[in-house]
Amino acid sequence: MLFRSVLEMVGDTPLVELVGFSPNPAVHIYAKLEGQNPTGSVKDRIAKFMIDAAEREGRLHPGQTILEPTSGNTGIALALIGSLRGYPVKVVIPDAVTAERVEILRAFGAEVIFSPGPLGTNGSVAMAREVAAAHPDWFMPFQYENIENPRAHYETTAPEIIADLPEIDVFVAGLGTGGTLTGVGRRLKEYNPAIKVVSAAPHPGDLVQGLRSLEEGYIPPVLDESVLDGRIVVDSRTSFRLTKELTTRAGIFAGISSGAAVRAAQVAAGRMESGHIVCLLADGGWKYLSSGLWTQDYDVIEEDVNTKFWW
Ligand SMILES: Cc1ncc(COP(=O)(O)O)c(C=O)c1O
Repeated sequence: MLFRSVLEMVGDTPLVELVGFSPNPAVHIYAKLEGQNPTGSVKDRIAKFMIDAAEREGRLHPGQTILEPTSGNTGIALALIGSLRGYPVKVVIPDAVTAERVEILRAFGAEVIFSPGPLGTNGSVAMAREVAAAHPDWFMPFQYENIENPRAHYETTAPEIIADLPEIDVFVAGLGTGGTLTGVGRRLKEYNPAIKVVSAAPHPGDLVQGLRSLEEGYIPPVLDESVLDGRIVVDSRTSFRLTKELTTRAGIFAGISSGAAVRAAQVAAGRMESGHIVCLLADGGWKYLSSGLWTQDYDVIEEDVNTKFWW
């Protein structure tokens, strides 16, 4: 395969069956490995769509500074594009994120602005709005409101899933901005209205990097809650346990939100007689190594999830 730019390598990620992860042998769970994207996360897709659209529509000018609040992955993806196309990139991230995120951002040439860790990404959003107000000449793609975020998933992620697994019954993904669930969910339901879409989220105040609890007060405008057929709240210890199991039992080195998505897929599988579930693993494990997640042992927690289904 020959590419003229790493940006041509975004998307077309593999779908692999998670053998032995389903509680029901008649239900098959497959993982879409977004860690295979150039910067190692699903966010390469939306960064490319947001920047391409802004250039096309004249909202982003040569050399203009890009500013974005992020839990890390979107910032890293924007930093890659910025370095290729000559835009300085500044990202606002919670100071509680792993050191690897900060290092990668700086490696790609981004400037890192820290927001208070306890406030999570809501704190980053608030601080980025303040910085943007003080610098009206900067461009903020703002993934939480940018229609190109769900559009990237509508145009690329979902068609890839349909092509690889036409018989899909359920789609599960973590909820951060809601872009993945909204964009993939809309396209899948156009393809087959019977397909169910399920979100995985943490408890309020319980940190799973990249995911948000809607109970904390901010509902991202890109999230279309009408596409959701179920919501599964996963304990962070359980997210860690499943992330570790992905590595030890399936050979997949994924990030922490992936553990939450897989646990949610297991719960959804428990409600089905048979079928096919796709869960999206948003990033690879590299950025979380310093968390020590893979060297710990985890007990199986009773009642580790809180579920709500509308089907
Ligand atoms: C690691 C990780 N997982 C999941 C998500 C959630 O994806 P989305 O923003 O499309 O809801 C994000 C980003 O927000 C993320 O960085």
